Amino acid sequence: MIATRFVTAVLLAAGKGERMEGAQAKQFADLGGEQMFFRPLRTLIGSEYVDHVVLVLPSTGPPSPVPIENMGFAKIRAYVEGGASRQDSLSRGLKACPKATGIVLVHDAARPLVPLWLVDRVLESLDDSCDGVIPVIPLPDAAKELSPEKMVTASIERKNIWRAQTPQASVFSALTKAVEAAEESGLEGEDCSQLLIAAGYRVRAIEGDQLNFKITRREDLEMARAVIAGRPPVRSRRRTAFPHIWHHRR
Ligand code: CTP
Ligand code: MG
Repeated sequence: MIATRFVTAVLLAAGKGERMEGAQAKQFADLGGEQMFFRPLRTLIGSEYVDHVVLVLPSTGPPSPVPIENMGFAKIRAYVEGGASRQDSLSRGLKACPKATGIVLVHDAARPLVPLWLVDRVLESLDDSCDGVIPVIPLPDAAKELSPEKMVTASIERKNIWRAQTPQASVFSALTKAVEAAEESGLEGEDCSQLLIAAGYRVRAIEGDQLNFKITRREDLEMARAVIAGRPPVRSRRRTAFPHIWHHRR
């Protein structure tokens, strides 16, 4: 199916990166000598299946000029201003997709280490048996439910819990309808699969990749830099979610 359909990739790079607490949004932080979002942009463009890329940027634009026009990225034809939430940015990105789009691939710029094979495999896995495909990775640790006071209230069957990643592939018409339905009902979905499922579509999961982690906090950025530099990552001691627990262990 993939070989005959026009594929548009939407790269979401319009977030504020508030949990990173950096001077600039994380997707513009330095990663290997370039702004972070360039790396996943190149990977998307590098896929033989991707025909067109829509880049969703903040209304303020990147902090330093981005000479994308001069970089030979012929597949990029649209820059779009993002919205207040990821879903708003997605919605704007979808509206900028060419009419010919049959399949849309949505990726977080905050997952810069996405391997090309995963982009291709997600797209190849979108067949007639489903309307969307997402990469997932298993949970290596025992899973617990906690109360707001951080008391363990339940143990969760680990084999049923998976961590969802991007890129996520969807039949374009299905995702467009799912986003419209979410906007009407007030659902704020975290990813394409949540929106597709809520609208009654079928989503298949395939195996993702550990290296395709999302840069959320500073230690993730340090990890990504270490991976790129080919040196062992330095463990950060910061534990903001559990300050009291960390204090006891010190
Ligand atoms: N994103 C976006 N538009 C938004 C919010 C998020 O395009 N209004 C993008 C981010 O740039 C990122 C991806 O969606 O590539 C995943 O979101 P997340 O990791 O939550 O990034 P931020 O929202 O920027 O970070 P935070 O939640 O810490 O503020
Ligand atoms: Mg966010």
